[in-house]
Amino acid sequence: MKIIFVKDYEQMSAEAGELIAAQMKIKPNCVLGLATGSTPEGTYEYLANLYGSNKIDFSKVTSFNLDDYYGLAPEHEQSYRYFMNKHLFSKVNIPIENTHVPSGIAEDIDAACAEYDRAMEASGGVDLQLLGIGINGHIGFNEPDDKFTANTHLVRLDESTIKANARFFDDPKDVPKQAVSMGIKNILQARKILLLASGQNKAEAIYQTVLGPITPSLPASALQLHSDVVLIVDEAAGQKLWDAKKQGKVHEYVRTF
Ligand code: PGA
Repeated sequence: MKIIFVKDYEQMSAEAGELIAAQMKIKPNCVLGLATGSTPEGTYEYLANLYGSNKIDFSKVTSFNLDDYYGLAPEHEQSYRYFMNKHLFSKVNIPIENTHVPSGIAEDIDAACAEYDRAMEASGGVDLQLLGIGINGHIGFNEPDDKFTANTHLVRLDESTIKANARFFDDPKDVPKQAVSMGIKNILQARKILLLASGQNKAEAIYQTVLGPITPSLPASALQLHSDVVLIVDEAAGQKLWDAKKQGKVHEYVRTF
């Protein structure tokens, strides 16, 4: 895993935006795996600005999002389809029919999940997968468990995730208890993975992701099995890892501040 230590959220977003822009220049018809949450918002703003100054073109890009809440319609303000339209898709020239977000309201969820996997495969596979991380080490909505789940599936959200995401809802009771998420195999099939983390509450999960055992009780640890992962951490999220680096435990890294 290559680690980029940056100062703050703004730098993290700029570094991530530049890496995604580079992917789009190398392969204009690339397939991007996209994420939601507070972490990638700044990256999407950065990309929208690059697009606004004619530096990148989304006209041939395809996208697949990691997850969405079960039971929320795309028009719901807290659905991840709504988030993506608001923060990225409406600001750039990606054809909306090229964008995919798992459906949380399909009548037959299992069939919709299988179809999502098929569509990803038919697209040629994800070239670059953007990821955030939960404080419990989840990626997508792959929650800590006693096994890894391979493909897109319905998941029961962890109490810690429901609590962490309550900030987005008027009433904490409104946070859905389930979600539809790509599985760990889907994520590991991406050719390149870009993991972002900002803030002190992610420091332990990030440390375990990089240096802990590979275990479904910390799903992000599966990323150790992938040969092309770039991790961008700000000072707070990277603190524990930086301490480990001082003890010689981290090798492939750059520090930008
Ligand atoms: P956050 O969520 O970006 O809102 O912190 C990340 C995640 O839960 O994967």
